[in-house]
Amino acid sequence: MKFFIDTANLAQIKEAQDLGVLDGVTTNPSLMAKEGIKGQENILKHYVDICNIVTGDVSAEVISTDFDGMVKEGEALAKLHPRIVVKVPMIKDGVKAIKYFTEQGIKTNCTLVFSAGQALLAAKAGASYVSPFIGRLDDVSTDGLTLIEDIRIIYDNYGYETEILAASVRHPMHIIECAKIGADVITAPLSAIAALLKHPLTDSGLAQFLADAKK
Ligand code: E4P
Repeated sequence: MKFFIDTANLAQIKEAQDLGVLDGVTTNPSLMAKEGIKGQENILKHYVDICNIVTGDVSAEVISTDFDGMVKEGEALAKLHPRIVVKVPMIKDGVKAIKYFTEQGIKTNCTLVFSAGQALLAAKAGASYVSPFIGRLDDVSTDGLTLIEDIRIIYDNYGYETEILAASVRHPMHIIECAKIGADVITAPLSAIAALLKHPLTDSGLAQFLADAKK
């Protein structure tokens, strides 16, 4: 399973990259705003900065909601760096744009996916990644992990190559459950990835070994 970090924070991206387990980055307009990145020029430069830190795919989201706008924006984003994946919302024109980008050889990430039907459409349009938001489904009392299971079954039934990128991951158990189900990728905040490291028996065992080594 690939690990992506879900942030636009360069320090956190570097930290995850240095850990040696990072396969890519996802961003969205809210994450960019959180880092105070404003204005088209700064936003594009920030994507390039991210691409220069990591060795995997970097999702950069369009903000247009019409086909022509998405195509124009997506083509400009794709030209920034070979690692850029154009992130497109699951709306009617978004599906058309994904089909267009696929035909142009531009990688896409279909975002804001909350149902198996949406994921099926994204795969049929040729999306490179589909992003079901599991945490946001959990927030409205709907099991996000069940959606990952459903998409896995559907994609396996027909051999769709679209990678399931479990998004809106909130904690380490989301990551572990996604790995059990067979999600291709998770994108998570650094805190959830780092939490996988921790176990109290590791800490106490190491403390004991170090104490005994001094004897
Ligand atoms: C996906 O690519 C999104 O950036 C992200 O996972 C959304 O997560 P949130 O629900 O924590 O905002």
